[in-house]
Amino acid sequence: MDFALTQEHELIRESAQKFAEHEIKPTIAELDLQHTSDPTTLKKMGEAGLLGIGIPAKYGGTDTDYISLGLVCEELERGDTSARVVMSVHSGLHCMTLLQWGTEEQKHRWLPDLASGKKVGAFGLTEPNAGSDAINIKTVAKKDGDHYVINGQKTWISLADYADQFLIITKLAETDAKAPYAAFIMDRNTPGFSSRPLKGKLGVRAGNTGEIFFQDMRVPADCMLGQEGDGFKVAMSALDHGRYTVAAGAVGIITACLDACVPYCNDRIVGTEPIGKKQLVQQMIASMAKGRDIGRLLYYQVGWMKNTGQRHTREVSMAKWVNCEAAFDAANKAVEIHGAYGFSAEFPVERYFRNSRGAMIYEGTHEIHTLVQAEYALGYRSDKPLAQNLPTYPFES
Ligand code: CAA
Repeated sequence: MDFALTQEHELIRESAQKFAEHEIKPTIAELDLQHTSDPTTLKKMGEAGLLGIGIPAKYGGTDTDYISLGLVCEELERGDTSARVVMSVHSGLHCMTLLQWGTEEQKHRWLPDLASGKKVGAFGLTEPNAGSDAINIKTVAKKDGDHYVINGQKTWISLADYADQFLIITKLAETDAKAPYAAFIMDRNTPGFSSRPLKGKLGVRAGNTGEIFFQDMRVPADCMLGQEGDGFKVAMSALDHGRYTVAAGAVGIITACLDACVPYCNDRIVGTEPIGKKQLVQQMIASMAKGRDIGRLLYYQVGWMKNTGQRHTREVSMAKWVNCEAAFDAANKAVEIHGAYGFSAEFPVERYFRNSRGAMIYEGTHEIHTLVQAEYALGYRSDKPLAQNLPTYPFES
């Protein structure tokens, strides 16, 4: 067993950290305050090569492994959740799922532009009446010659207004398949597509979130990922990848809390000593360090399982569940340590508190992961190997 990061991992971590330092942190407080997303961040992420992480060179990617993807997510979220969300949606939910389920032709068709950042991908599963209960989606695709006609709507879609293409999950109007679901990659320029931003979010205010609508939208049949009947499995695999990026990002929030609290604890004097010398404060700092270290081990393990082509549905659910709770707890403690300053946008910890709350809802609520873990522990849920896996790392050339 080898826990060491490679030199390449360290370099990737360092460059993501620099990106967060120079391109995210200087403007984030104002963007967050104004509830505004900055589309140039996406462009800059593409130029920095971040959008090609985890994608093999033969499809135009950086040929870096899946642990690298986690490291980038951790460092970006140390800057702000909105930047990590871009990685979760574009790289995790969209590109990794395409890498897992696409035919060779589909991967060559779409991945090079996605990896270079020329195009941005997003994901659509959730609907107004189907969040946790994903099986009950209503968006429907009906076969018509060599196309499918799609009608319906998706909500809480990150990058709804910016993404060039979406991986969407639909029901099938008519099919012989046992599970009547399908997954499509669709272009936003398809007639019948529209989007609308969602306003008034508690957190991730510098991130774009919206609704997308499909009205008699004709999508070519060769844009289907997998076969008729595979749609729900494609959705669940996408969540295996998205949850990984969220779990890694949660560690970044905890680190950001420590980044804020350590100098504050040393500078803030109460009586004759800095508050860092007070044992109740130390207890909160220790708890943050515990969350960060456990969180890293959990997501590194999932990254290793992805690299080696193992199914990791149970492990990624655990990592996402544990890390997101730890991040929210750390942010709550960071607010506590800062006292009244923690309640003010003058300090970043109130943003960490709001942002970390969202991660306990999206990509599987706290309750869904609790149930999933209980079902695995009780033997009600099986982890049989999957028919489709991500390419193992090192990638074939
Ligand atoms: N990969 C591939 N296939 C999978 C899979 C995976 N990870 N997980 C399950 N499957 C397969 C199963 O093997 C099964 O196939 P068979 O019938 O052939 O065996 C099929 O998919 C159905 O699986 P389950 O029986 O496990 O399905 P379920 O109905 O029990 O699932 C649930 C229940 C786990 C709670 C699931 O509905 C779930 O995860 N819900 C939460 C949805 C969620 O996280 N939504 C978040 C929305 S996306 C988002 O948040 C992103 C964003 O904002 C941008």
